[in-house]
Amino acid sequence: EHLSPATQRKHSKQKFVADLSQCLFDFVIQLLPTAEEMAVKEDVRKLLERLIRTIEPDSRLLSFGSTANGFSLRNSDMDLCCLIDSDERLAATDLVTMLGDLLERETKFHVKPLPHARIPIVKLSLDPSPGLPLGIACDIGFENRLALENTRLLMCYAMIDPTRVRTMVLFLKVWSKRRKINSPYQGTLSSYGYVLMVIYFLVHVKNPAVLPNLQQMPPLRPISKEDTHLGGYNTWFFDDIELLRQRWQSSNIESVAELLIDFFRYYSRDFLYNTGVASIRAGLLKKESKGWQNDLSGSRYNDTRERNRLCIEDPFETDFNVARCVTKDGLYTIRGEFMRASRILAARPDRAIVALAQLCE
Ligand code: CTP
Ligand code: MG
Repeated sequence: EHLSPATQRKHSKQKFVADLSQCLFDFVIQLLPTAEEMAVKEDVRKLLERLIRTIEPDSRLLSFGSTANGFSLRNSDMDLCCLIDSDERLAATDLVTMLGDLLERETKFHVKPLPHARIPIVKLSLDPSPGLPLGIACDIGFENRLALENTRLLMCYAMIDPTRVRTMVLFLKVWSKRRKINSPYQGTLSSYGYVLMVIYFLVHVKNPAVLPNLQQMPPLRPISKEDTHLGGYNTWFFDDIELLRQRWQSSNIESVAELLIDFFRYYSRDFLYNTGVASIRAGLLKKESKGWQNDLSGSRYNDTRERNRLCIEDPFETDFNVARCVTKDGLYTIRGEFMRASRILAARPDRAIVALAQLCE
């Protein structure tokens, strides 16, 4: 009772942070997909693979995105990629059309082939049924080998420190969806973009770092260019996570709640939105050095200007800004949400669960 006000504040902060960490774990766990949902999705993948093989016998259908990287929430969509291991394959456009027809005939899926999209895909959905109360949404793309690799990279990061990384990422995915700032079509950021922001923060902002930089670690044995390059991009990264866990341990012992509070603070006021590019591969880069500056004047540049408000470099496709869909308004809203979250957490309500509910309102 005779503690100084400063000590009392410190204790109340410690208690809040411990409670919040526990609440975050509990919150995220109840949002994970059930084993049943995972099994149904795997059955769907196998069924679709069998059907595609009637058109392209040498094809494989692999899952990527959240179903494959460990960041999946209940009822998240399924991202599938068709790889064809033969030299004489149909063009993606034709495949999309043929596969669309086939699935329309043979399955109960609603089918929407998009053969002329920038990346041709077939969109599928299944209505809710007793065994599948929320239905399924699924996109099938072709030969997207870079996406398979970046999925594996994110999965490896998740495996290094599953509790902290997965809890943060899953929470941010739910939070960004509930706050309606997770839709590239409406000028905000994709889940993939948010995951990269978290990894960037844990590798390059936190000191000591929570995660190592898997793309810059020395390889165990010499590697040849053919083994590591895909379409001209270097896709090498250290992927022996078992070995890494034996040899590397972060000296950062902050709790999930502390990291999350710091994450919101960093992206509400410290990240250099106007000039900086977040690169998980290379740390903070300059828009200028990538030709991504957005301060060019004149109408001719309007498009590029709109495109590079927020810059997040793809880990492999380094000339690709993952956040290029984020508009001026979108970024304003996203930053506003980071500030709001920061404010709620800094106010430290009596019960952490109240803060969490308020955050995701
Ligand atoms: N992807 C990509 N480039 C982008 C967006 C996505 O390569 N600009 C690939 C990545 O491999 C990513 C996958 O598409 O893992 C799925 O992206 P997204 O749907 O944004 O992420 P999910 O983790 O699947 O999130 P959600 O559960 O919200 O679908
Ligand atoms: Mg997805």
